[in-house]
Amino acid sequence: MTEKADFTGVEQTMLITLYLRAWESRSKDSILRDHVAAQIVDHIDYDFSKLMMRGGAGNRFLLALRARQLDEWAADFLRRHPDAVVLHLGCGLDSRAFRLDLPAGARWFDVDLPDVIDLRRKLYPEPEGYQTIGSSVTEPRWLEEIPTEHPVLVIAEGLLMYLTEDENKRLLHQFTDRFSRGELIFDGFAPWVIRMTQRMSKRLARKGYPSYSTAIRDDREIERWNPGFRYIDDVPLASLFARIPVRSYRTVYRLMNAIPATRNFYRMFRFGF
Ligand SMILES: C[S@@+](CC[C@H](N)C(=O)[O-])C[C@H]1O[C@@H](n2cnc3c(N)ncnc32)[C@H](O)[C@@H]1O
Repeated sequence: MTEKADFTGVEQTMLITLYLRAWESRSKDSILRDHVAAQIVDHIDYDFSKLMMRGGAGNRFLLALRARQLDEWAADFLRRHPDAVVLHLGCGLDSRAFRLDLPAGARWFDVDLPDVIDLRRKLYPEPEGYQTIGSSVTEPRWLEEIPTEHPVLVIAEGLLMYLTEDENKRLLHQFTDRFSRGELIFDGFAPWVIRMTQRMSKRLARKGYPSYSTAIRDDREIERWNPGFRYIDDVPLASLFARIPVRSYRTVYRLMNAIPATRNFYRMFRFGF
């Protein structure tokens, strides 16, 4: 049985990330080994070839590296807080809840726009301790469902760049207002990358893609937006070049890592609150 996926704009971006993780995970030297992604892709009725823009082949490593880094931080949080509540924002069709070993006491919420969650519910099971929420994260009401008495891990992969800076600030304030402690892990682009996608916005729109809105200027950005957060760590994606199994792509990422202007083009961040 296959399910139709009829998306445009920001919702469509989750099909690209799913497809690239599935592609990367089929290689014997896979960085991520997201075999669930490969199975899910086979159940979606969609012409994935039309998503492929130039750079698609190399982007599968970018996606795998960022997902693995966020998986490692998430697994570390769950080890320290087996009773955690995990809010996985802009989850798309990502299999993270099923890739990680969830402690029996943890609760996981996958959150995305209603149409995405409708499709997700047809493709994934909803076991005990796991729940989906179909809502924009900019709507404050979805948070009312979330228990407040546990340590909270917020994961936002491939999301914050699509929200405006004001939406991001409002969202983060809701976490510090509502929960007493937790961590936020996410990915963010340098300002020059955001400006570049904005210059390409017409071309991207013709292909049905949105451009990015929000950059992460430096590792203190989130503390400036909301002093309730404290910086813990950041990892430039390019610094993970040694994990790439294909020499040509490894060399490109290694060079990007060696050049200060490109080293921080894309980073994963970890903040506490
Ligand atoms: C680039 S995809 C990333 C999906 C997933 N995290 C992954 O890595 O495969 C961006 C996701 O953010 C979701 N999204 C965008 N704006 C959103 C919003 N305001 N509220 C909830 N989800 C949103 C999109 O529907 C899409 O699934």
